[in-house]
Amino acid sequence: MCVLRPLLLSVVIIICYFVTGPYNCVAAVKKTSCHVQDGRADCRHLSLSEIPQNLPRNLTSLDMSHNRLRAVPPVSLTPYPGLIHLDVSYNSITKVDEGLCQTLPLLQTLNMEHNEVFVLKKEDVSHCTKLTRLIMASNRLKLQGEPFSALQSLKFLDVSINKLKSAKLGTQPQLPNLVNLNLASNDFTTLKKDDFSFLNHSTSLQVLNLSSVPLKILEPGCFKPISRLHTLIMDKSNMGTLVIAKLCKELSRTAIDALSLRNMNLVTLTNTTFAGLQNTSLSFLDLSHNDMVKIEEGSFQWLTRLQTLILEDNKIKHLTKDTFQGLKSLKKLQLTKAVGKSHTSAKIDDFSFQPLSALESLILQNSRVQDITKHTFTGLTSLKELDVSWSTSLKNINNETLASLAGSPLRTLNLTGTAIAQINPGAFSVFRNLTTLFLNHNFISQIFTGKEFEGLDQVRELYMGNNYMKVNLSSTSFVNVPNLRVLTLEKSLTVKALDLHPSPFKPLPNLTILDLSNNNIANIREDLLEGLVNLKVLKLQHNNLARLWKNANLGGPVLFLKGAPNLKTLLMDSNGLDEIPAGGLRGLHDLRELSLGSNLLNNLKDSVFDDLNSLEVLFLEKNTITAVRPEVFKTPMSNLSLLIMGKNPFDCTCESILWFVTWLNNTNMTNVPGLREQYMCNTPLVYFNHSIMDFDGLSCKDMTPFQALYILSSTAVIMLIVTALLVRFHGWRIQFYCNILINRTLGFSDAKAEEGRQFKYDAYVIHAEEDGIWVERSMTPLEKSENCKFCLEDRDSVAGMSQLQSIVDNMRRSRKILFVITESLLRDPWCRRFTAHHALHQVIEASRDSVVLVFLQDVHDYKLSRSLFLRRGMLRPCCILDWPIHKERIPAFRQKLLIALGMTNRLQE
Ligand SMILES: *[C@@H]1O[C@H](CO)[C@@H](O)[C@H](O)[C@H]1NC(C)=O
Ligand SMILES: *[C@@H]1O[C@H](CO)[C@@H](O)[C@H](O)[C@H]1NC(C)=O
Ligand SMILES: *[C@@H]1O[C@H](CO)[C@@H](O)[C@H](O)[C@H]1NC(C)=O
Ligand SMILES: *[C@@H]1O[C@H](CO)[C@@H](O)[C@H](O)[C@H]1NC(C)=O
Ligand SMILES: *[C@@H]1O[C@H](CO)[C@@H](O)[C@H](O)[C@H]1NC(C)=O
Ligand SMILES: *[C@@H]1O[C@H](CO)[C@@H](O)[C@H](O)[C@H]1NC(C)=O
Ligand SMILES: *[C@@H]1O[C@H](CO)[C@@H](O)[C@H](O)[C@H]1NC(C)=O
Ligand SMILES: *[C@@H]1O[C@H](CO)[C@@H](O)[C@H](O)[C@H]1NC(C)=O
Repeated sequence: MCVLRPLLLSVVIIICYFVTGPYNCVAAVKKTSCHVQDGRADCRHLSLSEIPQNLPRNLTSLDMSHNRLRAVPPVSLTPYPGLIHLDVSYNSITKVDEGLCQTLPLLQTLNMEHNEVFVLKKEDVSHCTKLTRLIMASNRLKLQGEPFSALQSLKFLDVSINKLKSAKLGTQPQLPNLVNLNLASNDFTTLKKDDFSFLNHSTSLQVLNLSSVPLKILEPGCFKPISRLHTLIMDKSNMGTLVIAKLCKELSRTAIDALSLRNMNLVTLTNTTFAGLQNTSLSFLDLSHNDMVKIEEGSFQWLTRLQTLILEDNKIKHLTKDTFQGLKSLKKLQLTKAVGKSHTSAKIDDFSFQPLSALESLILQNSRVQDITKHTFTGLTSLKELDVSWSTSLKNINNETLASLAGSPLRTLNLTGTAIAQINPGAFSVFRNLTTLFLNHNFISQIFTGKEFEGLDQVRELYMGNNYMKVNLSSTSFVNVPNLRVLTLEKSLTVKALDLHPSPFKPLPNLTILDLSNNNIANIREDLLEGLVNLKVLKLQHNNLARLWKNANLGGPVLFLKGAPNLKTLLMDSNGLDEIPAGGLRGLHDLRELSLGSNLLNNLKDSVFDDLNSLEVLFLEKNTITAVRPEVFKTPMSNLSLLIMGKNPFDCTCESILWFVTWLNNTNMTNVPGLREQYMCNTPLVYFNHSIMDFDGLSCKDMTPFQALYILSSTAVIMLIVTALLVRFHGWRIQFYCNILINRTLGFSDAKAEEGRQFKYDAYVIHAEEDGIWVERSMTPLEKSENCKFCLEDRDSVAGMSQLQSIVDNMRRSRKILFVITESLLRDPWCRRFTAHHALHQVIEASRDSVVLVFLQDVHDYKLSRSLFLRRGMLRPCCILDWPIHKERIPAFRQKLLIALGMTNRLQE
C-alpha cells in the first residue's frame, strides 16, 4: 500500500495534466467571441449551436460559418432586422425556415453552402424577394414544386454539388434577373430540350457552370432558352471529342464568348471539333490541362474571332504551319508547358505561327522546343511579347538566331533559362522597339564590350541575373542601352567585374533599379555609382563589402554611395559589415528602406544614420548589436513603419536599452513583428534570455537622484580630504597669506609710507648670545666695507629705554630683519618669545618681505616653524642664505647677503 501511494499520486497528476492541459491550450489559442467591426460580425469557428443574441442591433452582415448550427429559427434573428448578408455555411442545418426572410426583410445574400438541407419548397424562400445571391452548394437538395419562383431579384444561384438529377430547377419561367447559374458537380448526364425553359425569361443570364457534370447527351435546342449565354464552363466533365463537337453545335446560335474546357482528357482535337462555333463570336477558349497530344491541322479554322487561346499544360507533339490556321484575330497564345512531354522535345515547324498575324503575345514558357530556326517565328507581324523561357537551348546567339523576329515590333523578349553561353555582337540588333529583355538563368560567360546590345537603345529593363558568375563587364558594356531603368546582375558577375574606372554604369543616367546582389564582390571604386541621380533601388546584399567600409581600409573607407543621393531602397544584408563609416550613408535623405540584416554590426558611431530622416523600413536583424542608443537611432526611427531588429544580443542595462524599450513602449505607428520572441537580452545575467520588453525601466529612473547624491557626496568627501591635506601640510602658508590679505584689505598697511621713510638701519640682526662672536666677525666688517648699517641689540639699544621698547623702536627703524639661525637661537627663550614674535608681527603688519634668514647650521624646517613661526617656504629663495663651510665661498655669501638686504621690500604681487 505504502509503495503504491506515490505511484497513484503521479498517475493522478498525469491524468490531471492531460485533462486540463489540452483544454488550456485550445482555450488560449481560440477566440471566444464574435469579432464585430463596421456593422459586420465574424462568428466563425466558435462551436456555436445558436445565433448569439448580444451583438449590436444594427448589424448588416453576420458570418456564422463553421459552427454547429442545426437550424436557424427566425426568432433567433429578430434582434438583427437590418441584416443584408447572412452566412451560415458549414453547419448542420437541415431546413431553410419559412420565416427567415420575413424576419430579415432586407436580406440580399444567403449562404447555406455545405449543410444538410434536404427538401426545398417554394414557401421556404417565398419572402426572399430582395435576395440577389443564394448559395445552396453542397447540400442534399430535393426540389419540390417551384422553390425559386419567388426570387425576383436573384442574380446568382449556386446549386452545385447536390446530386441533382436534372438541370431543370422549375417548369415555369422564373428568375428574371439571373446572371450566373452554377450547376456544377451534379449527377445528370443529359441536357433535355426544355431543361432550361424555366430560364426562358432570364434575359440577363451570362454565365453557366456545368463543371464536373458527366454530360453524354445534349438534345437539340437545349441551349435555346439561354441563347444570351456568354460564358460556359465545362471543366472536368470528361465529355470526349464527339460530345464536345455536339456541344459546340448546340452553342452555335448562342452569344457564347468564352468557353472553358479544362481538365477534360481531351487528347485529340480534330478539324471538326469546333466546327459548330464557326458562326459564334467566341473570343476566349481555354483548353488547358488536357494532356492533349495531337491537334489536327485546321482544328481552329472555325475560330476566326478568337482572341485568346490557352493551351497550357498539354503534351502537343507537333505544330505545323496549318495548326493555327484561321486564327486571324488571335492576340494571345498561351503555350506554357503545352508543347512536348516533360523530357522529350517536340517539333515546331517553320512558319508554324505565320497564320497568327494579329498575335501580340506568345508564351512558350517551359515548352520543349527543339530548335529555333530562321523561320520559326516568321509572320508574327504584330508580336509584342515573346516568352521562350526554359523552352529551348540557344547557346551562342548571333544576329541570325532570332532573325525570324525581325518583322515583329517586339517589346518584351523573355530568354530566361535558354542556355545562352555567349551573346555575339549585334545579336539583338533587329529589336529596335524592345523595352524589356530577360536573360536570367543562362550560362553567359564573356566580357561585355557593349556591341552585344547594339540596337537596343529603347531597352529600359535588362535582367541578367543568375548567370553563374561568369559575366565580366567593361567600362563600355552599357553604352548602347542608354535608356536603361532597371538592370539586374545578381549572382552573375565575376568577382572583379566592378573594379573598373570609369564605372560601367556611367552611361546610364536614368538607371532606377540596380541589383548587384549575391556576387561576392569585394572591390568596387568610389565612383561606381557616380552620376546615378535617378537611382532609387540598390541591391548589394550577399557581397563582401566589409573591408570597403572599414576605417582601417587603406586610403580610408570607400564611400561609394555618394554618387546616388536619391536612393529610396538600399539592401546590404550579409556583407560581413562590422563598421559603418561616418559618411557611409551621408546625404540619403530620401531613403525609405534600409536593410543591413545578417552583418556583424555592433558599436555604431553616433550619427551614422542622422541623414536618414525619411526612413520607413529598417532591417537590422541578426547582427551583434548590444546597445540601441538615441544618439544613433533617434533620427532613423522617428518615422519608421516597420522595424526588424530581432536576434541581436541585446545588453539590457539602463545605458544600452532603456531608450529603445521606452521607444518601443510608446510607438504606435511602427510595426515590430516578433517583439516578444526575437528581441532577447543577452546580458546581464539577470535578464539573460528574457525579452527586452521585460526590462524594468523604473530601476533606471530611480538612479537619477541617487546619481546626483553620489556625485555630491563623493565631491564633498574629496574636498574634505584635499582641505585636510592642504591644512596639514600648508596650513601655515595659508594662514600667512591670509593674514597679509586681511591686513591689506582692511587697510592696516602703511607699506607705502614705510617705503618712503628713511630707515636708520639696513637690518635688525637677531641672534643668540652664543653667535655674537660670529656676528662681530662676519657682519660688522661689512658696515665699514660696504657702508651698510646693522642694528645689534647689545650695541645699539637706546640707553634709558626699556629693553622691549628699544627692540620695537629699532625694528621699526630697520629695513630688514635678519635672523642668524642656529640651534641655540631656537633654544633662546627671549628670542623665541618676544623678538621673533615681534619681528613676525612687523612683517605681517607691514606686509613687507623683510626677513632674511642666515643659517649657520642646518636646521630642520619643522623646528624653525615651532620656535620662530617661520618657514623657509614663506620667504623668497634669495632671502635664505647658508653660511658656507668653505672659506673661499665667503665673498660669494657676502654678495648674496647684500643682494638680500638691498632688494625692494615690496612683496611681489
Ligand atoms: C451601430 O451602432 C453603434 C452604437 O450602438 C454605433 O457606434 C455604430 O457606429 C453603428 N454602426 C453602424 C454600421 O451603423
Ligand atoms: C479534315 O481532315 C481530313 C483529312 O484529315 C480532310 O479530308 C477533311 O477535308 C478535313 N476537313 C476540313 C473541314 O478541313
Ligand atoms: C520570363 O520568364 C520567367 C521564367 O519563366 C518568368 O518567371 C517571368 O515571369 C517571365 N517574365 C515575363 C515578363 O513574363
Ligand atoms: C550578321 O552579321 C554578319 C557579319 O557581321 C553579316 O554579314 C550578316 O549579314 C548579318 N546578318 C543579318 C541577318 O543581319
Ligand atoms: C517601333 O514602333 C514604332 C511605333 O511605336 C513603329 O512605327 C515602328 O515601326 C516600330 N519599329 C519596329 C522595328 O518594329
Ligand atoms: C532620361 O530620361 C529623361 C526623361 O525621362 C529623358 O529626357 C532623357 O533623354 C533620358 N536620358 C537618356 C540618356 O536616355
Ligand atoms: C500615436 O500617438 C500619438 C501621441 O501619443 C498621437 O498623437 C497619434 O495620433 C497616434 N497615432 C496613431 C496612428 O494612433
Ligand atoms: C513599458 O510598459 C510596460 C507596461 O505598460 C511597463 O511595465 C514597462 O516598465 C515599460 N517599460 C519602459 C522602459 O518604460
